[in-house]
Amino acid sequence: MSNTVLITLSDRVAWVRINRPEKLNALNSEVLLALHTELDQLQNNEAVRVVVLMGSGDKAFVAGADISEFAHFSPDQARELVHEGQEKVFDFIQNFKKPVIAAINGFALGGGLELAMACHIRIASDQAKMALPEVSLGVIPGYGGTQRLPQLVGKGRALEMILTGAMIDAQKALEIGLVNQVVAPEALLTEVAKMASKLLKNAPAAQAAAIQAVEAAFDNSQSGYDVEKDLFSACFDTEDFVEGTQAFLNKRKANF
Ligand code: COA
Repeated sequence: MSNTVLITLSDRVAWVRINRPEKLNALNSEVLLALHTELDQLQNNEAVRVVVLMGSGDKAFVAGADISEFAHFSPDQARELVHEGQEKVFDFIQNFKKPVIAAINGFALGGGLELAMACHIRIASDQAKMALPEVSLGVIPGYGGTQRLPQLVGKGRALEMILTGAMIDAQKALEIGLVNQVVAPEALLTEVAKMASKLLKNAPAAQAAAIQAVEAAFDNSQSGYDVEKDLFSACFDTEDFVEGTQAFLNKRKANF
């Protein structure tokens, strides 16, 4: 069993730690496979309601795809690499049925920033540094960065980041909407846990539907408005809806 991804479960929150600190948690194929396997299990584990992605050590969230692994790839191998990675990890996280929070403690570069952007919420330490530096290596982002960055920060800012490859600090990332919150390094995990407890108060089936509906807004193959109508009506068939509405009408807290 790989120890490149470590899982800790605590009060319905799964803390998923990428564990290659000596390589600044760079994503090699072993890490990507372990991430997919673990996330797949967490998605099916009813005891888990929120997932947190984080890096080991105090220097990096993830410093990118492992450059040593793809440096000699042919175009066909490169296509296979990103096809697999997008499907099994990045798109998988984006479409995860439970909220996923990225806890960005340090460098989130290239594939590392792409990983954070695939998550639903990003909380960063004020020491974090973010960039998509792929053009400095003669390549472009391949794990969805050219798509998710403009969605989050707008085309102009995304193109500036992608074309310069320049690093931005956490404060700048907050200003442009790339992260949701910036906190002191020592407060990062506490603040992430607070966000997780806010998420735990709400209906999980409705959260899964909300993720799906929001993602539909960015999927040209479907009408987000139609998806929203379908999912809205489907909520009326869930136990969560009965519990949520009955709790309100009976002036008590809902128990999801
Ligand atoms: N792929 C493979 N190995 C990586 C890596 C990556 N993306 N990022 C860091 N590492 C490795 C380094 O090669 C080094 O390994 P070594 O000790 O065996 O030589 C180790 O992690 C520590 O990194 P190092 O560069 O010595 O740390 P630093 O503090 O001097 O610099 C960074 C930190 C993040 C600025 C630098 O590591 C870097 O630029 N990394 C690549 C970032 C990148 O281009 N990512 C996009 C990839 S698509």
